Amino acid sequence: MEKIQVRFTVNKEEVLLNVKPYETLLESLRERLHLTGTKEACGLGACGSCTVLLDGQPVRSCLVLTPEVEGAEITTIEGLKQGEKLDPVQEAFMAHGAVQCGFCTPGMVLTAKSLLNRSPKPTEEEVLKAMSSNICRCTGYTKIIEAVLTATET
Ligand code: FES
Ligand code: FES
Repeated sequence: MEKIQVRFTVNKEEVLLNVKPYETLLESLRERLHLTGTKEACGLGACGSCTVLLDGQPVRSCLVLTPEVEGAEITTIEGLKQGEKLDPVQEAFMAHGAVQCGFCTPGMVLTAKSLLNRSPKPTEEEVLKAMSSNICRCTGYTKIIEAVLTATET
């Protein structure tokens, strides 16, 4: 099958890939670029574990085809920290014990980051709504919501 050349940026670095037309962004990130912080759980768009930011908006990378991201800017969890310093959202998750197995955490953090970028002081209701499409089987969500609300104060 003919491959398609796709150029986009990941964590501010330009990448050029030759991909099959149906290769997902999740596959490209994990298997070609070795950015395994983006997790694959359901692979069906249901859990949010594979969330990355596409031009600042959270998307499920298992549902996005790599050819669709031509020219786009992708941010994965590996792109959040500045130098050796974690992003304030990551710090808040650590401080609140909002991480257990950690499988949902990259997607949760990126979803929260996107919310705080567009709404720096969200209400609890806005946080609940924004985070509602990311599934966590461990924490019971309370500490995650607390962490996001605390990150708004930093
Ligand atoms: S792995 Fe993509 S939504 Fe679950
Ligand atoms: S911490 Fe385990 S799924 Fe959320």
